[in-house]
Amino acid sequence: MTGRIGAAVSRIDARKKVMGEARYAADFAVPNPLYAHLVTSTIGRGAITGIDESEARTVPGLREIFSHANPLGLEPDGMFSTGGHAQQGWEPFAGPDVRFYGETVAMVVADDILAAREAAKRLRVAYSAEAPAAVFGAEGLEPEELPDMALSSGDLDAAMEAAAERVEVEYDTAANTHNAMELFATTAVWSGKDLTLYVPSQWVEGFRAGVASELGIAPERVRIVSPYVGGGFGGKGSLYTFTPMVAAAARRLNRPVKLYVTREQGFTTASYRAETQQSVRLGARADGRFTGFEHKGRELSSRPDTYVVNGADKTARMYHADAVRTGVTCVHADRQTPGFMRAPAETPYYFALESAVDELARRLEMDPVELRRRNDIDAEPVNGVPYTSRSLMECYDMAGEAFGWRDYDPAVGSMRDGDWLVGWGCATAAYPTQMAPCAVRVHFDRTGRARVMVASHDLGTGAYTVIAQAAAEGLGLEVDRVEVELGDSRLPPGTIAGGSISTASNVSVIQIACERIMQRLGTTPERIDVAAVFDAFGQGAIEEYAEWAPRGSRPNARGGLYGAEVGIVGGPEEEYTAFAFGAEYAEVRINRWTREIRVPRLYGAFAAGRIMNEKTATSQYLGGMIWGLGHALQEKTEIDPRTGAVMNDNISEYIVPVNADVMDVRAMMVPEEDTLVNPAGIKGIGEIGIVGTAAAIANAVHHATGIRVRHVPIRVEDLIGTG
Ligand code: MOS
Repeated sequence: MTGRIGAAVSRIDARKKVMGEARYAADFAVPNPLYAHLVTSTIGRGAITGIDESEARTVPGLREIFSHANPLGLEPDGMFSTGGHAQQGWEPFAGPDVRFYGETVAMVVADDILAAREAAKRLRVAYSAEAPAAVFGAEGLEPEELPDMALSSGDLDAAMEAAAERVEVEYDTAANTHNAMELFATTAVWSGKDLTLYVPSQWVEGFRAGVASELGIAPERVRIVSPYVGGGFGGKGSLYTFTPMVAAAARRLNRPVKLYVTREQGFTTASYRAETQQSVRLGARADGRFTGFEHKGRELSSRPDTYVVNGADKTARMYHADAVRTGVTCVHADRQTPGFMRAPAETPYYFALESAVDELARRLEMDPVELRRRNDIDAEPVNGVPYTSRSLMECYDMAGEAFGWRDYDPAVGSMRDGDWLVGWGCATAAYPTQMAPCAVRVHFDRTGRARVMVASHDLGTGAYTVIAQAAAEGLGLEVDRVEVELGDSRLPPGTIAGGSISTASNVSVIQIACERIMQRLGTTPERIDVAAVFDAFGQGAIEEYAEWAPRGSRPNARGGLYGAEVGIVGGPEEEYTAFAFGAEYAEVRINRWTREIRVPRLYGAFAAGRIMNEKTATSQYLGGMIWGLGHALQEKTEIDPRTGAVMNDNISEYIVPVNADVMDVRAMMVPEEDTLVNPAGIKGIGEIGIVGTAAAIANAVHHATGIRVRHVPIRVEDLIGTG
C-alpha cells in the first residue's frame, strides 16, 4: 500500500491546480452577470452628508447605486449586528455614520466591470469629517479592560520580589494585513427562492447561516460554494459585509451579480491583525527557575466591537512559574474590526514572551535553551492542568543539533564575519491543539473507489490529500482510489478551517465512518478483498454518515453542527492542556555599514502528534516560518494618524518575504504519539510555524549587535548607531 497516513504524498489536487482546472470562487461562470464595485470612505470618522450620483448616472451600463440612501434590504438584526460568524458588528448601509477610513459607503452595479468602476469613481460622496483616533497614542481612544479574560495564580508581586533577576519591559507589534494571492470576491446567483454564492470561504456553514440571517431567509435556501481557496490564513473565516450585499443586490436586480474586491480595498473591507502593546514581567531565581510571570496586552479594535486575541492566555501556560498574572485591554479606535490572522493570539504574544525569556537568560548569563529546559513543565502553572504530551525540549534538541547550537558563543558581537555582524537566536513555538464537531459521508463501492464528502476546506494546505489518506487507510485502499469533495455547504457539515482544527477533526470522524463500513462489510482494511466482500454484502455500494464531537464539547454538540455552531474546544481546558510545540533557531547577518538585515538560516523542529503527510506538513511549517520572517522584519500596515488611511495598501509597498529574502529554511519533525488529544492523535500544524519566529530573529539581532529591539518589524533604522 502506498500513500497512506504519514506518507509524503503529493497533493492530489496539484495537477488540477497547475492545469487551471481547480475553480476558485471567482472562476465560476454564471449566465449574464452584472458587476459590482465598492466605494469606500475617504474620511476616518464622521458622517456622509450627501451622495451626488449625477456624474455616475451618466456612465453607460450603470444599473444601480446602493448606499444608506438606497439600502439593500438587509435585515436590521442580521448576523452583523447580533454577532456570530460576521467580521463586523454593524449592518452595512444602516445609516450615514463612517467609522473608519476605507469603510464601504456605496456599491455600484453595472453591466460590466469597467462601467462599475467608472461609475464608482464618478460618485461624489460628501462628508462631515472629524479627526479620527486610529492608532495607539492618538487622542480619543477608548480602552476597555476585560477582567473576565485575565488569569491569576499565586502572589505575583511577592514572586517578583523573590526573583534574583527580572525583566520588566514593553513590546509592540505592528498591524498586519492578509494579502492572500486570491482576492476577496463574491458571485451571487438566485434561482427562484434559492441562492448560490461563490465566495472564498474558510467556513461555508457559517457563511450560509450569516447570509441567510442578513437576507431574512432560511439557511436551507442558501448554498455556499468554495471548493478551492487561494490562501485563507483566517482572512476568509468570517463573513464580510460585501457577501450578503452582493446577494441582496442580485435579489433586487433579478440578475446574477459578481464582485471582485480590489487589493487596495481588501486592506480595509476585510480583517487584519491589529497592533498590540504588551508589558511583560518575568523573574527568575539564580538557578533560572521562574518565580513570577506577568503578561498584559493592549490591542486595537473598532469603536463598536470588542475583539481581542488575548495571547497571554496561552503564554501563561508555557513555563514553570510560582505566580502568574495576565490581563488584556481592548482599545477602541476609529478602525475596522480586526480578525483572525495566522496564529492570531500567538504571533504577537510569543514575540513578547520569547524575547523576554532571552532577555532574562542574558541577565542570568545562562544559555537560553538551558533556561527553557529548567522551566520545562508537565502541567501548566495557572491551574496545574497536565499536558497531554509536551515535546518542547526534544524540539530544541533536534533543531539545535542541526543548527549547530553547541558552537554558540553568547558574547554579543562574537561571531562577526568581515563586514557582517552575525547573531544566533532561538525561541519556542507553540499552538493549542483544538478540534470541533464535524460530520462526514463516506461512499464506497464494488469497483474499489471511495468518495469522502464533508463541508471542510482546502486553503492550499493539503486538506484534500490528507482526507484521502485517512479514508485510504480506513478502507484499505490506495490513495488514488479516493475522491474528496470539500467546500460546499450542501455536504455534511465540517468545521471552520481555523484554529488548526481541520485535520484532527476530519480524520477523527473519517476513522469512525470507515470503521463502521468495515464492520458492516465484515472485513478490515488489512485483509479486504473488495469484490468478494461486496458480493457477500449483497449490494454494490455502501455509505456511512458519521458525526464526531471532541472530548470537552458541550452536551449535544453534534446537534449544533446543523446550526452552524463553531464548537471549538481544546488548548488549555479543564481536564488537559493540549498544545503542539516547536523550537526555532535563527541566524542573522547585519551589514556593519548599511545595517541590512539578512536571515541566512532559519531552522525549526516541531512536535505535533501524528503527522498525516510529511510533505504537506513540511510546507505548512516552512510557510509559517517564512511568514514569521516577514512578521519580524517586513510586514507593517502603515496607518496615517491624521486620517486613519492605510498608506501602503498594495503589495509593492506592503512588504512580504520574497525568494531573495528566504534562504536556508528548514523544518524538522520530532516523532510524537499523543493518545489523549483526539482519536486520531493529531495536533494540527497550520499555525504553529509562525509562532516565535519573530522572537528568534530579534534575539539573534541582539546577539549580533547588542541592540534589543522590542518591536516588530525590526528595520534598518532600528540598528543604526553602533558597531
Ligand atoms: Mo486561522 S488565523 O484560525 O484561519
